[in-house]
Amino acid sequence: MTSPTYAARRGQLETYFDRTAVEAWSRLTSDAPVSRIRATVRAGRDAMRGTLLSWLPEDLSGRRILDAGCGTGALSLEAARRGATVVAIDVSPTLVGLARERTGPVPGPGSVEFRVGDMLDPGLGRFDHVVAMDSLIHYAPADIARALAALGRRTEASVLFTVAPRTALLTLMHVAGKLFPKADRAPAIVPITLGGLSRRIAREPDLAAFAVARTHRVNCGFYLSNAVALTRTGLAPLCPAGGTR
Ligand SMILES: C[S@@+](CC[C@H](N)C(=O)[O-])C[C@H]1O[C@@H](n2cnc3c(N)ncnc32)[C@H](O)[C@@H]1O
Repeated sequence: MTSPTYAARRGQLETYFDRTAVEAWSRLTSDAPVSRIRATVRAGRDAMRGTLLSWLPEDLSGRRILDAGCGTGALSLEAARRGATVVAIDVSPTLVGLARERTGPVPGPGSVEFRVGDMLDPGLGRFDHVVAMDSLIHYAPADIARALAALGRRTEASVLFTVAPRTALLTLMHVAGKLFPKADRAPAIVPITLGGLSRRIAREPDLAAFAVARTHRVNCGFYLSNAVALTRTGLAPLCPAGGTR
């Protein structure tokens, strides 16, 4: 069961990525020329994708990976080229269509199955690794923690994701964004602190066997995002932080 705030935000994101921003997003994720500002975002996103992919085993043969909020599918393709069996899901049918067109046949044993829907759908099955690059950044912290718990329940090894760090500059950009007319506005990114998120993670019983193994910030022009690796440690702690068992 997802919360009403999660469902409402997912609906806004579907409208935004499927209609309002589909052209811009298609261009940003291609090799087509973009403005200097967007070029910094593209470079930052390339660096972030490289970081997340470097946190996965080099040989992904036989591993099942969920690309949660896959967009136009760049990360899925790279993981499949390294041998993974990838399920790539997004709420935007148009972006999934674009991802299918761009991906084509994958050389070697890997594969990508593109699906339209919610990344938290339990029907997707179990995975070795889940990667959610910039797809949780628009959700409230409580919904991010619950989403991670839902993903953690069906993950054997690691959940890799990104969050928008709370910095003075991002807060300012956030306020400035609210000055745009409603129709032009992207659903707000919700900046959060890693400390606050770690405390929420520690309170989720389904994440008791996971630990924040590493974090990395990518700061490139107008792109600012923190990568986080939640790794299954094997044993649930006897006494998780913030509570007793
Ligand atoms: C900023 S884009 C990032 C796309 C891709 N991960 C990348 O880095 O290129 C965020 C994507 O997450 C998708 N998304 C957001 N919430 C989702 C949900 N609950 N289930 C599936 N996709 C979702 C959006 O439709 C959008 O395509």
